[in-house]
Parts: sequence; C-alpha cells; structure tokens
Amino acid sequence: MRHLLAIRDLSADDLKEILALSEGAYTHVLQDKGVALYFEKPSARTRNSMEVASAQLGGHPMYLQPNELGIGSRESVEDVTRTLACYHAIIAARVFDHALLEQMAAVNAVPILNLLSGSDHPLQALADLLTIKQLVGRIEGVRIAFIGEANNVARSLAEACVLLGAELNVASPVGFGFGRPMLAVNQVVDPAEAVEGADIVYSDVWVSMGDEDSPDRRKAFAPYQVNSALMAKAPGARFLHCLPAHRGEEVTADVIDGPQSAVWKQAENRMHTARGAMLWLARGKA
Ligand code: CP
Ligand code: NVA
Repeated sequence: MRHLLAIRDLSADDLKEILALSEGAYTHVLQDKGVALYFEKPSARTRNSMEVASAQLGGHPMYLQPNELGIGSRESVEDVTRTLACYHAIIAARVFDHALLEQMAAVNAVPILNLLSGSDHPLQALADLLTIKQLVGRIEGVRIAFIGEANNVARSLAEACVLLGAELNVASPVGFGFGRPMLAVNQVVDPAEAVEGADIVYSDVWVSMGDEDSPDRRKAFAPYQVNSALMAKAPGARFLHCLPAHRGEEVTADVIDGPQSAVWKQAENRMHTARGAMLWLARGKA
C-alpha cells in the first residue's frame, strides 16, 4: 500500500515516476470509485484540482468537513479511516496536525494523500517541480531561491530539490528558518544573497493558515518582499508562488502580474500533478 504524506517518504525514482505520470496519458483507473477529500482548512486550488483530477480518472470526489466527520470526537481516527476505505479508493486530507495523516496511514486500509499539513505540502512541491522542468527544461542544477518562512511549502520544495539535485537557497528572518540544518539546502538571512544567480524566485504568504494568532510578522518579513528591486538581482529568473498571494505583502503586483511570473502555469500544474499522484497511489507497489 502506497501513501503520499511527505516528499521525504519518497525516493528519487518515485518522484520522477509521479512527474512522468502527471504529464502522461491516463485512463479511468478510478472508475466507479470514490475519492474522499477531507479539509480542516480552506482551499481553492487543492480542492478544485483534486476534484477535477479525480473526474479525469473516472472517480467520484466527495468533499468532507470536520463538523460532519467528527474525527477523534464523534468517532476515532481509525474507525473513520476504515469507514471511508469501504467507499473510497483514496483518502486525501488537509489537516493542521501532520500526525493525523500518519495515524490514518497506519490503518493501511487505503492510500492516504496529504493535501497540506502544518509541516508539509507535497502536492504543491510536485506542481512546483513540474513547472520548473517546463520553464527551465530540467530540474537538476536549477538554482531556486525561496524567500520567506521555512514553512510547509518550503519544506516540501526543499526535500524535492534534494532528491532531484536542484540547488535551493532559503532566505528567512532569524527565527523563521528550518529548525535544523537541511542537507543540501543553503539557509541564509539576506534575500539579496539568496536570489543571486537564481533561475527561480519563489514566495509564499507571511502568515500560514493556523498561524493567524502568532505575533505580528509583518515587521520581521517586510525586508523579504519580492519586488522589482529584488527581481532585478536575478534578471533571468522566473517568479513562482503557491498562491493565495497577498499583493503588497510578500510580493508586489508588478512582479506577480509581470512577465517573469509563471504562477498560473504553476496553478494549472496542481491539477496535472494531483492526477499523477493519484495514478501513482492507485498503481500501488510493484
Ligand atoms: N496552493 C494551495 O494549496 O492553494 P489552496 O490553499 O487554495 O488549495
Ligand atoms: N504556507 C501556506 C500555504 C498555502 C497554500 C499555508 O500553510 O497557509
């Protein structure tokens, strides 16, 4: 049984296989099967791309919310997982606590797919890599600068870069970097240093879902805005953002809406990689 909870759980070959499946032909491998989509947090791209990708594979997506399922309150995590596995070929979930996904995967009744957790966003990293491959023509040796908090999006991107040999610089304010050193990821404080010679400049929100109550981050993150002055230090670079974006905060309108930006190609690729990930899960281990 395969699960996709974090990029670090994959091998380089797994990752390459998912990317190839994302760009390849597909059939109705989920014909007459359900895909459970459980969301503890809001979503535009992830829910819509997963619903359409499920339909492309012949499956029937079902949107489920915490107040209905009552995971851990109305019923145990394990019993909800076993129940959903009676009807669905895949359980996909967006959760606050990554441990909930691990608890579901431990039941081993049906593949579990992470739709974003507090610590990881593997589906986003898949779309990011596919987009980079399409923009630059390769992934190995590509120079990526991530500007902002070393959050869920950054972690999955970093793990994917390590697996496929891209070079990643992460520029974060002090206290907002990865808690411990990450192999083959260059962590810096100065955003200008991070973007020097970059092929890709990447940004995400300053306040992730669930961090709304953390003390005002705007002061700490103000020097980490991706604007035309920062992009000028990497004139050949393309700009990526997982979205949703806040123009005037982590990125200026002229950058995200300008010629260097490829965020809509990246958003479209969420659907292709959602399909690739589900094909990979449905295929199971050889
Ligand atoms: N990038 C992303 O996951 O977007 P949503 O939160 O809208 O799904
Ligand atoms: N880091 C952001 C990503 C949103 C897609 C969050 O977790 O809210």
